[in-house]
Amino acid sequence: MQRLAPALRQDNVPLDLISLIKTILAATKEISFRVSQAHLGGLLGSTLDENIQGEVQKKLDVVANELFKDILLESGFVKAISSEEEDTSVAGDPNGKFIVSFDPLDGSSNIDINSLIGTIFSIHQAPEDMAADNPDMFKQPGHKQVCAGYVLYGPSTMLVMTTGKGTHFYVLDRTHGGYLLVERNVQVPQDTQEFAINMSNQRFWQQPMKNYIHDLVLGEKGPRGKNFNMRWIAAMVGDIHRVLTRGGIFTYPADNKNQEKPYKLRLMYEANPMSFLIEQAGGLAMTSQGRIMDIEPDSIHQRVEVIMGSKNEVETCLSYYQ
Ligand code: AHG
Ligand code: MN
Ligand code: MN
Ligand code: MN
Repeated sequence: MQRLAPALRQDNVPLDLISLIKTILAATKEISFRVSQAHLGGLLGSTLDENIQGEVQKKLDVVANELFKDILLESGFVKAISSEEEDTSVAGDPNGKFIVSFDPLDGSSNIDINSLIGTIFSIHQAPEDMAADNPDMFKQPGHKQVCAGYVLYGPSTMLVMTTGKGTHFYVLDRTHGGYLLVERNVQVPQDTQEFAINMSNQRFWQQPMKNYIHDLVLGEKGPRGKNFNMRWIAAMVGDIHRVLTRGGIFTYPADNKNQEKPYKLRLMYEANPMSFLIEQAGGLAMTSQGRIMDIEPDSIHQRVEVIMGSKNEVETCLSYYQ
């Protein structure tokens, strides 16, 4: 099995980007260890603080964020970072060539039940004409990402990453302490009989999504003429990993549960990086209005509707909006 750095060189990834990726992965190895310690490390449970999203922070949200932030800002490769757990962007090295957005701990509600969690990251080139403390640097669409990935702290610790040359799977090999390439150019099957959505929000969805899910649930007796199964991990990393592995459609649609917040997932450090991975694996990543990676962002914590996964199924879902 190939080690990470040679695999990246084979894809002609520039050396400075490889160095940044290695820095990010150093942080994930530390988080992976802390996660596995659970009760033993005293890191379960909540803090008394809320993040800018209005969510109570778990201890592990904060620890993972600090680990990532410190290692990235000290690296010299990064001009600024933005994170789910930071109110605004944080300046790094003025000469850093890259900016990094991240969700340090995705699936926070799974921490205390010893279930799937992960880290999501997205890398863009740093604009040369903006100061390191200017958050406008992050207002770049997803199609300009130079790298995106997530690390899944599951039964094995896996890295799923793209630099625009396909989506590849790696596994953390604890015997030598590095990530090994286990699957190159993963492909999402175009058709599926599996969907992922939080069904408890059904009454808040828009009519097209209600109609689409209604037809999936009718199964072979309905217009789709086949049965569908449902899965919901409550961690986007887990649900997207299943979609990349065996296909499926994952959606967090618009809802009117909270009038000020029609969408749940965040564009910069959830939707964009996952869209890059899904598209590089031959899937589609959309809102009901268009391609996620074409959205021109207006703020760091912007939220967005998400409909992604198996190409034909995403197209069928979107046809309900026409
Ligand atoms: P985070 O833990 O980083 O705040 O993200 C949680 C997100 C996402 O991972 C998941 O798909 C979704 O929230 C789960 O939403 P529900 O609580 O509606 O299940
Ligand atoms: Mn959160
Ligand atoms: Mn998240
Ligand atoms: Mn998070």
